[in-house]
Amino acid sequence: MNQHTRIDSIPFIDVAAQRRRLGRRIDDTIARVTGHCQFINGPEVAELERALAEFCGAAHAIGVASGTDALVLVLMAKGIGRGDAVICPSFTYAASPEAVALTGATPVFCEVDEKTFNLDPVGIERAVAAAKRAGLAPKALMTVDLFGLPADYEAINPVAGKLGLYVIDDAAQSFGAAAKGRHIGTLAPATTTSFFPAKPLGCYGDGGAVFTDDDALADTIRSLRNHGQGADRYDNVRIGMTGRLDTIQAAVLIEKLRIFPEEIVARERIARRYNAALADVVHVPHSSNEHTCVWAQYTVRVSGGRRDALAATLLAQGIPTAQYYPVPSHRQGAYRDFPVADGGLAVTDKLAGEVVSLPMHAYLDEPTQDRIIGAVRGALT
Ligand SMILES: Cc1ncc(COP(=O)(O)O)c(C=O)c1O
Repeated sequence: MNQHTRIDSIPFIDVAAQRRRLGRRIDDTIARVTGHCQFINGPEVAELERALAEFCGAAHAIGVASGTDALVLVLMAKGIGRGDAVICPSFTYAASPEAVALTGATPVFCEVDEKTFNLDPVGIERAVAAAKRAGLAPKALMTVDLFGLPADYEAINPVAGKLGLYVIDDAAQSFGAAAKGRHIGTLAPATTTSFFPAKPLGCYGDGGAVFTDDDALADTIRSLRNHGQGADRYDNVRIGMTGRLDTIQAAVLIEKLRIFPEEIVARERIARRYNAALADVVHVPHSSNEHTCVWAQYTVRVSGGRRDALAATLLAQGIPTAQYYPVPSHRQGAYRDFPVADGGLAVTDKLAGEVVSLPMHAYLDEPTQDRIIGAVRGALT
């Protein structure tokens, strides 16, 4: 018996495979920037902004320093701060409530839907009630398109309108997705995204963007990302921050955006294969013909307390998994004192104990998919 058999480990997200495909194009574009030396606000930033706006159909795309800054900038531009409540899901990455708290406003946690993992429109009024009881003025609703699936804007937008809530789509995980033919970037009055390297459209560092059709909002964000700049750089008309997307990241993103549509198709193909092969052993993620999901994560639910054992069995076979998110925001030390929607967050708590994400990226070949599928089935049947 060979005691030293090496198990080949699969990357969870293979950024290097895409880097190999892009090859010289990335080296050349970075060399162009280091040649012209306009590292801040170089021509590639405006070029990328035009390409992003055209890609999603929004009137404005504004490059910013990160997905978190994108959220903070929209909240600042809307004048949201102390005494205000922003409703957001607890089942999200820390950056969503963090951005709210950074402005001085209070995140109020709202329930999500068990099938889609996204904000449950029915729970919004219960969150507003909790906010009001805490003496806060409910001002905005931050939706999060978790794992790349657009939230249900057809249901959410009218409820938000009725309650006077401004909708901000935290699309850090979903840029590139669409609902009924309309792209993320156009489904809410303001949309933010992240270009963190592991995101479906990622750069080689930190980056983000804001999308909107609102000219005044776009102007304010362009000013805020640049220290509240007015007519020129020594005219400060409001308090802003250093929130710009740097030129090298913009140049990288221009190249990556060219292959993004193909990558979205590849991700969808892999997700459908996973769904077909695993639907009888786990709760596979929601998919429908009305949405394009960008599958930032492929996340299944494993009930009966078997999730951690499944993850351990897969890891022993060289297959990494991840749990997004094992501790929801309302149970985190930093956020546990913020209000929770009336009736509590039972679905959120349940999901936190059941979710597990499998390797997913556009370069995951069929033999590797089959190895993952076989390992999951082997562990659960
Ligand atoms: C839902 C969500 N919102 C916001 C962010 C923040 O993005 P960034 O890391 O670019 O600041 C992330 C990043 O993972 C995210 O997943």
